[in-house]
Formats: sequence, structure tokens, C-alpha cells
Amino acid sequence: MFGRSDAEIDLLVRGMQSGIAVVGFGYIGTVIGAVLADRGWPVTGIDVRQSVVDDINLGRTAVAEPGLGELVANSVRIGRLRATTDFGAVTDNDFVIVNVGTPLGPDYEPIVDDIKAAARAVGEHLRPGHVVILKSTVPPDTTETLVRPILEDASGLRAGVDFGLAFCPERLAEGQAIHELTSIPVVVGAVDERSARACATLWRHALGVDSVIVDDPRTAEMVKLADNLWVDLNVAMANELAKVCDRLGMDALQVIAAANTMPKGGNPVNILRPSMGVGGYCLTKDPWFVNHLGQTLGLELSIPRTSRTVNDTMPGYTFGLLRQLLADQGKALQASKIAVLGIAFKNNTGDCRLTPTKYVVTPLEESGCELAIHDPWVPEEEALSVTDIPLTPDIESAVKDADALVVLAGHKEFHQIPLTRLADLTAADCVFLDGRNSFDPPAVRAAGFIYKGIGR
Ligand SMILES: NC(=O)c1ccc[n+]([C@@H]2O[C@H](COP(=O)([O-])OP(=O)(O)OC[C@H]3O[C@@H](n4cnc5c(N)ncnc54)[C@H](O)[C@@H]3O)[C@@H](O)[C@H]2O)c1
Repeated sequence: MFGRSDAEIDLLVRGMQSGIAVVGFGYIGTVIGAVLADRGWPVTGIDVRQSVVDDINLGRTAVAEPGLGELVANSVRIGRLRATTDFGAVTDNDFVIVNVGTPLGPDYEPIVDDIKAAARAVGEHLRPGHVVILKSTVPPDTTETLVRPILEDASGLRAGVDFGLAFCPERLAEGQAIHELTSIPVVVGAVDERSARACATLWRHALGVDSVIVDDPRTAEMVKLADNLWVDLNVAMANELAKVCDRLGMDALQVIAAANTMPKGGNPVNILRPSMGVGGYCLTKDPWFVNHLGQTLGLELSIPRTSRTVNDTMPGYTFGLLRQLLADQGKALQASKIAVLGIAFKNNTGDCRLTPTKYVVTPLEESGCELAIHDPWVPEEEALSVTDIPLTPDIESAVKDADALVVLAGHKEFHQIPLTRLADLTAADCVFLDGRNSFDPPAVRAAGFIYKGIGR
């Protein structure tokens, strides 16, 4: 693919004659691989976990993302998607997209061990013409100073001469991953112009999205960190506004909706929503990557630490609200039944990685209250990272005789059962604490609950 003329790349990609190897078939890899296969591309997923490979080849995925299970099942059935642990599969594909994990180390530094291992294994099977695209979130210069030398050393080839190399950050959000993958422009930072053009052609025809081509991989790496720092900081501001509005007895969501009508810098102000906490694999670590980056540059940054610190206070704040609401009804927490609805870190996903819900559930467990936990999205094994209490499989049993319903993930299923039905099942004067502000307060009150949201 790399080294051909633009017209040839265009023809090959449009004719879907190029195969795509997706290295790292976790959350992001599975979404990318399944979507590309669904759109007609031959996709080979490569992962070091045999269980992941076996699942995919049986047409299954443990990644709980709306619509993904169907895409995987269908693509495997018609033979467009398969998975392997064998990196030899790299050789037969033109594009190699790498999405291995980049967790946070003990000193809040990014751990790039999986990137190094994946780059070496890919490099050993690299051929002239390949285009390698790194998508994992990494600090600036990782593509150029870590991945490039490993690929070149293992393959004996040169990036930008024999094979293409680019960093294209993944910016989709879980819960709406399939839609976002096929609608958000892709930022492309490549080692040379030909690599950039090959990527842009791929994204245009494979996903139907535009590319934003920046100067180099390091700029694209910084873009991803900037995006996530902005989100985390913005939510932190919304959360502190919510705390103030709680004290003042006003609705933070009304304040934010009205504030967001003011234009600034060519766009309206866009304050996000307060909630019981920020979790997941990106926002909890990427600001720390920026903080660590600052330290390596001799800078003491305040923003990343502030956003992380503020957002980390929210589960404790939510727990405090619950205790107070029960006390207002003359009930002690330890003598109450509490029904927790949703433990995933985000609405309509089953992902419990670094979920803030754990820091509401744990003090509830320690309080001595009677606790029922229901989450229709979270598999039992995934739930173990949050609680040892077995999940209650149906919502009606979970809320039966509850003194408080605590919504920690606003899954769509919780909106499908009539509020009046829930109110019939719960105890008198039942508190309804909406930690995700996903319910309409007047409707909850009309059903007979004592309503409270975060900042409303
Ligand atoms: N989850 C998100 O919403 C999201 C969004 C944007 C960006 N990202 C970034 O994308 C990257 C991947 O995130 P994820 O959530 O998919 O992680 P994940 O942990 O779900 O998936 C990583 C996969 O890589 C595999 N792997 C590890 N080492 C490997 C190797 N040497 N060769 C092949 N496979 C290997 C693992 O077995 C795992 O299946 C991270 O850098 C993350 O920061 C994630």
C-alpha cells in the first residue's frame, strides 16, 4: 500500500482489496475490527490473549458495547473477521492498526511495555508497502522514538521509505463507539506525506470520515491528550458548580444549559454535565500522562492534578448525599435497604474498569446496610472488580422494599420500567438519588420518590 500512487491506493482501498490487521483486540481493537469488517474489509485481529481470540472465532465478544455483539457475530459468520495469536498474519495485510493498552504506572507514568512488545512482533513480519498505524494513547514522541526504531530494527526496513508509519489517536467514547468511529474526523500525524495520504485514504473509504492531517506523530499524540484533559477538566468544573448549586438549592443543569447559550471564540460555551464521578480507561489516566509529561519537562502543571482531584471527590460526595437524604427521612443508613442501579463507569456500557461506582459501593458495603446491586450490562466476572456481592439479575427484586434507589449508571433499561412501578415496589418515602442526572426530576417526584440529582 505504502509507496503506491494516490490513485492506486484509492483504487485498492475503495475496491476493499487490502486487508487490515488489528493488533490488540480489546475494547478499541474489537470496535475498530468489527466495524471495518462490517463495512466490507477482510480483518484479522491479533491478540496475545487466547481467550479473546477463541471468543472472536466463535463469533462472540466480551466487550459490552451497544451493537458490537451483532457486528462481530455477523462478520465472523460471513468470514470477514477472524482472530489469531500469530503475528505472521501481519504479512498478508496492507494496514496494521495497533491498539494495545497503555496503563498508568505506580508513579502516574504511562506504561508502554505492550506497545514495545507489539511493535517488535509486528516488525518481525513487516514487508515493504505496509502501513502501520498506532492508535493507543501515548505521550508525545512515542511513535517516533520508541515504535519507529523497534519496527525498523526488527524488520530491517525504513519508515517513510519502505513502509508507512503514522499515529492516529482513537477519540471515540464508549457507549456510542460504533457511531463515533464512523463520524468523528481522524487526526493523522505521520512520519512522511505518503504515510499521511495512505491513512487519509483508508479513513475516507473505510470509515467514511475526514482526516485532520497534522505536522507529525508527536502533534497527533498531543491532540489526544489535549482532548481528554479538556473533557476531564470541563467535567470537574461542572462537578464543582454542582456542589455550589446543591448548597444554594438550585438546579445546576438549568444553570449549565443557559450558560451554554453564550458564544465564545466562535462556538457556544460547552459546559458538560456533573455526575457521581469520572471513570474508565481514558479520563482517569490521560490527565496524569500530561502531568507526568510536564514533570519530565521541568513544569509543575496544576490543571491535570486539579481535574483528577476534583473528579475523584465525587463518589464520596455522592455517598454523603445519600446518607443525608436518608437522615432527612429519619432513616439510618445501616438500618436501610439500598438498591444500587448500575455499576459500569458509563451509561449503556458493561465496562467497570476504574469505575467510580466502586467508591460508592464499598462504603455502602462497609456501612452494614442491606445492599442489592443490579446492572444488566455488566457480566458477573467484571462485577467482581467492584463488589463481591452477587448482582441481582432483575431490577424488580433489587428495588423491592428499598429505602433508597441509587442510580450510578443511567442505563437505558432503567428508563424502560415505569417509575410508578418502581415506586410501588420500594418502601415508603423512598429516596431516589440519580448519580448520573439521567432522569427527569418532576417525573421522579410525581411517581412518589424523594428525588435528588448531582447539583439538582
Ligand atoms: N477504551 C476507550 O474508550 C479508549 C478510547 C480511546 C483510546 N483508548 C486507548 O486505546 C488503547 C487501547 O485501549 P482498550 O480500552 O482497547 O484496552 P484493552 O485493555 O481493552 O485492550 C488492549 C488489548 O491489547 C492486547 N495486547 C496486550 N499486549 C499485546 C501485544 N503485545 N500484542 C497484541 N495484543 C496485545 C490485550 O490482550 C488486550 O486485549 C489504550 O491506549 C487506550 O488509552 C481507549
